[in-house]
Amino acid sequence: MKVAIIGTGYVGLTTGACLAEMGHEVTCIDKIKEKIENLKAGKCPIYDPGLPELVETNHREGRLKFTTNLKEGIKEAQLIFICVGTPPKENGEADLTYVEQAVKEIKEYLDHYAVVVQKSTVPVQTAQWIKQQLIEKADVAVNPEFLREGTSVQDFFNPDRIVIGTDTPRANGMLTELYKPLNTPIIHTDLNSAEIIKHASNAFLAMKISYANLVSRLCDKSKADVHTVMAGVGMDKRIGKEFLNAGIGYGGSCFPKDIEAFMATFKQHGEHPGLLEEVKKINEKQIDYVLQLAEQTQNLKNAKVTVLGLAFKPNTDDTRLSQAITLIKKLQAKGAIIKAYDPKATENAKKELTNTEFYDNVYEAIKGTDMIIIATDWPEFKTINLNKVKEQTNKIIDGRNMFDPKRMKALGFEYKCVGRNTQF
Ligand code: UGA
Repeated sequence: MKVAIIGTGYVGLTTGACLAEMGHEVTCIDKIKEKIENLKAGKCPIYDPGLPELVETNHREGRLKFTTNLKEGIKEAQLIFICVGTPPKENGEADLTYVEQAVKEIKEYLDHYAVVVQKSTVPVQTAQWIKQQLIEKADVAVNPEFLREGTSVQDFFNPDRIVIGTDTPRANGMLTELYKPLNTPIIHTDLNSAEIIKHASNAFLAMKISYANLVSRLCDKSKADVHTVMAGVGMDKRIGKEFLNAGIGYGGSCFPKDIEAFMATFKQHGEHPGLLEEVKKINEKQIDYVLQLAEQTQNLKNAKVTVLGLAFKPNTDDTRLSQAITLIKKLQAKGAIIKAYDPKATENAKKELTNTEFYDNVYEAIKGTDMIIIATDWPEFKTINLNKVKEQTNKIIDGRNMFDPKRMKALGFEYKCVGRNTQF
């Protein structure tokens, strides 16, 4: 099929590259000239395992094209995906400016039948608004994405489900055909339900994390182990074991923003999002809890503190709303001198942090430090040489519960983590 993708962020670029890999003719459109030039030159603007290779191969083989010209890009496209950002406004509502711009331009330039597919995460009834704008020009569909940064390519090709929200058999048929080779269960819904499925899914996952974090606090107070508790809880198939890892809390460009937007939508419809408010509060408190553990271990004033991890999660260079960045700012406010290391996210972190010493190597970052705080669970931290670490400091605050507390104590570390502090 001929496919146009508007917006080349994580979602647009991954969707475009993966659809091209499936054999479709894809044109990715973005207003940012530099980004398009780089993509044409084979440079992928995002670090996500497997994505640069897919972009490069499919571009070279002619299935994946890039342009800044929307009129050109949607010419002959049978499916037009809207994958633009929906950042939060001051009041937490989703800012739909980029969606509106895209729809305005589609309306102006579309001269043939197409299905306009809303993939950006938007509040319920946005697609209905799009439909009103494009009446008699196009069918509208909602096809939310469930791609995690760091595993987006893998998630695209191995989804748990595909959601197709439409209100015409023709649009439903075309999207069903598109995704058929993935051999995955498809939920066919109306437009509104598809939009709510996305927000409700992200909010539920955030709720699972906050629930584990809430329980972790009781575990610390009562000398239980949250790791074991959540293993026991998650083995119930009705609950599921994923997303029950307690730690410093969730960050990133999706959960915090989507929870806010979902809460705003509840309020707009006269409903109280109490549960979601609590999910957010618990998440915010987790950083302070990690900070408190650090203060109990080391006087922070003028102390050298090495923060390991800057990205909001491993396998990405994304630092947007990263708990690590917020934690560093709080540590600095307490007078700590920060030494930081991340395998991929340093360049992005530099844009958000001041007075921070950045290192290219974990062992350089811990040299002469008073304490280490693990803020992102990069696999390389798990295999760190603990003997070398101990030559520098024996104080580790583990905001991601990467190590076994008993083993760390046996090795002589003053080790504190989240909800597993049965040893002190
Ligand atoms: C999330 C969803 O998982 C995707 O399904 C969705 O498509 C995406 O948002 C989106 O809306 O675009 P993402 O934000 O990339 O994906 O990352 P996650 O893997 O969900 O992690 C989010 C945060 O939760 C990270 O900070 C992670 O460290 C934290 N987390 C995750 C925990 O603290 N504990 C856990 O058990 C799991």
